Amino acid sequence: MQLPSRVQVTEVGPRDGLQSEPAFIPTERKVALIEALAAAGVPRIEATSFVHPRAVPQMADAEAVLASIRRRPGTRYTALVPNARGAERALAARADELNVVVSSTEAMSQANVRMSVAESIAACAAVVRLAEAAHVPVACAVTTCFGCPYEGPVAPQRVLDVVARLVDAGVAEITLADTIGVANPRQVEQLVQAVQARWPQLPLGLHFHDTRGLGLANVLAGLQNGVTRYDASVAGVGACPFAPGATGNITTEDLVYLLHELDITTGIDLAALLDAARLMREVVGHEVPSRLLRAGPRPVVPAQP
Ligand code: COA
Ligand code: ZN
Repeated sequence: MQLPSRVQVTEVGPRDGLQSEPAFIPTERKVALIEALAAAGVPRIEATSFVHPRAVPQMADAEAVLASIRRRPGTRYTALVPNARGAERALAARADELNVVVSSTEAMSQANVRMSVAESIAACAAVVRLAEAAHVPVACAVTTCFGCPYEGPVAPQRVLDVVARLVDAGVAEITLADTIGVANPRQVEQLVQAVQARWPQLPLGLHFHDTRGLGLANVLAGLQNGVTRYDASVAGVGACPFAPGATGNITTEDLVYLLHELDITTGIDLAALLDAARLMREVVGHEVPSRLLRAGPRPVVPAQP
């Protein structure tokens, strides 16, 4: 099996994971969670989103979260932004990177950011200009790449058209997101290969939701095609509030377990990550999908005398 030797895991639990939790989670709990993730060696953490507080009340404390975390050297703290206003706020709060979300379908774009796809791409271009002046890189997550809750299956060509316009706008990295968890490994391979063929140098990431249990199978398809960046949510919490039926991301500790079993380096301490997962479970106060929290890591059998 041809696999990369190193993978960068981006933790999205504090944002994608928490954004649909109904009860407001106090800022200090979010901060403790982010600090536990950084302590486990997670190299990149999407700490919050600078969106309209009416759209996502859970993220209303974005400024306070970024101001309160003790920043660990070497960890990159990113923030999701939908538009220039969000970028201004995130830059003022000293986010290390911005992540703009752009949908590949019109209906999802309207539901999520109340803009057409073209308007959303223009908003992304405005974010890139603002961030450039501050020397902050901008990544872009393209949502509903494999299927839309409103429009059904999404043809790869539509995704490629959106990616082309985002590359023209100057984004530094593209993440292909399966917002509602409908992708399968063959589709992942096809889309990844199509993007790589057209933009061989473009840093590419994958963002899967485990809604139908294919999340890690899709990761394996990405790995076999050389993709080295994956988003995941600690304890497996989360859902998109604007995509009916959406459930959690792939679980960070389950992903890291898979990667380490495959001898792929992540820089993450799995035991410390499990501590962060327990904290996340406590913070949300309900059962979570994590397999590793239930089973624990592979048992260590003492050596026979
Ligand atoms: N943060 C805070 N306030 C914002 C904002 C932002 N990122 N963007 C716009 N606003 C404010 C404007 O300043 C304006 O305020 P005013 O009425 O006092 O002048 C008001 O919101 C309306 O601006 P408008 O551009 O018309 O926004 P909108 O109401 O059409 O909402 C979004 C658009 C993108 C801001 C909103 O839909 C949103 O935040 N969506 C995020 C959804 C999300 O997080 N999804 C999950 C992630 S995938
Ligand atoms: Zn997501």
